[in-house]
Amino acid sequence: MKPEVSEANLLARIDLDRLPQHIAVIMDGNGRWARRRHLPRIAGHRAGIRAVRQAVEACARLGVPYLTLYAFSVENWKRPHTEINLLMALLREYLKKEIGELNKHNIRLGVIGRVGELPKPVQADLQVALQRTCRNTGLRLTLALNYGARAELIDAVRALAEQLKRNGSMRIDEATFSQHLYTRDVPDPDLLIRTSGELRLSNFLLWQVAYSEIWVTETLWPDFTQKDLFQAIIDFQKRERRYGGLGLG
Ligand code: IPE
Ligand code: IPE
Ligand code: MG
Repeated sequence: MKPEVSEANLLARIDLDRLPQHIAVIMDGNGRWARRRHLPRIAGHRAGIRAVRQAVEACARLGVPYLTLYAFSVENWKRPHTEINLLMALLREYLKKEIGELNKHNIRLGVIGRVGELPKPVQADLQVALQRTCRNTGLRLTLALNYGARAELIDAVRALAEQLKRNGSMRIDEATFSQHLYTRDVPDPDLLIRTSGELRLSNFLLWQVAYSEIWVTETLWPDFTQKDLFQAIIDFQKRERRYGGLGLG
């Protein structure tokens, strides 16, 4: 068995001058974590909040400027009502409880997705959390809620079509298109993490991950710790990003 590496040891191996600027995470495996313990699925979601705190704290400690967490997809409405209701209740609880912590660490909250289709009380709590953290200048924490990349692309195309109708003509290139995505004020992710071992994107940031480095761990989301995030960054820093060119050879 490999000896456990300490958090301090992992931290020391990170080159702070070459941090990923934006880390995006597909937080997966809450249900399996609960099933393994013979607990209801919601217990896994509740334990997942601990892991959210770990990821947020690790990014804030290191000085990673952007963290985006996939919390609820447009496809997740297919789940039983009871699970959805409990997920929404957990989200409201998180938003209320966490504002103080976010402010303490100078973290600004953002949200991407079709927020207008979320239950009204969730929207109200989101507005409060966004407003109460909007002056923070540290980590930008974005929650993807009722998010689907295809929906985002369609929304962008609709906005562009509206503009074209109004103005008669317009320039359409990659930069203008990006400006019409929900992520217009966030750089593309450098590092995409998925937990629980699934090798798929599940409709997450399809445009933005064109050249992201992908890191998948078997660890289930509720077990994810700061050490896992540090390990992901260490591995990321070993990768050679070529963007279609020849790289350094
Ligand atoms: C991820 O965990 C959280 C959400 C999608 C809300 P899952 O609920 O998908 O957990 P598994 O994949 O069933 O284990
Ligand atoms: C992706 O996980 C969505 C979130 C993490 C919010 P899912 O569990 O919904 O994805 P699939 O169904 O395994 O692709
Ligand atoms: Mg899942």
